[in-house]
Amino acid sequence: MIALGADHGGLALKEAIRHYLDSERIEYKDFGTFDETSVDYPPIAAQTAHFVADGNAEFGILCCGTGIGMSIAANKVKGIRASVCTNAYCAEITRHHNNANILCLGGRVINEEQAVEFAKLFLNTPFDGGRHQRRVDGITKIEQGEL
Ligand code: RB5
Repeated sequence: MIALGADHGGLALKEAIRHYLDSERIEYKDFGTFDETSVDYPPIAAQTAHFVADGNAEFGILCCGTGIGMSIAANKVKGIRASVCTNAYCAEITRHHNNANILCLGGRVINEEQAVEFAKLFLNTPFDGGRHQRRVDGITKIEQGEL
């Protein structure tokens, strides 16, 4: 299960990714937005991120104009590691090294083809563990006030 969310600035990317998930018969929950009316991104980021953090989806994908607002908002939810990715390398390496669970993309930064490419990489790349597990555990310690 993949959780999807976007504001008006990321709607086109979300729709492209949604069509890709449909074509692969990958299940998703779409938290909107559903049209181009201007909307605030924090509530959509929050709903999507809580859905992932609660274990209802393995990954989330959040799209706004830059991907930045969505990532800042999603990273406020405990257990979320949301990464803004503007290239394929980052979309892949943030799974290998950071065990990122939400991919954030910007509709004013990348095109729909790139969004689908980055989503495929993100969804299909495993976490490397090892020394990276220790570092990800460090992020959790920050959340818990231990660092
Ligand atoms: C909306 O205009 C824009 O601020 C939003 O989509 C996003 O880019 C915020 O980070």
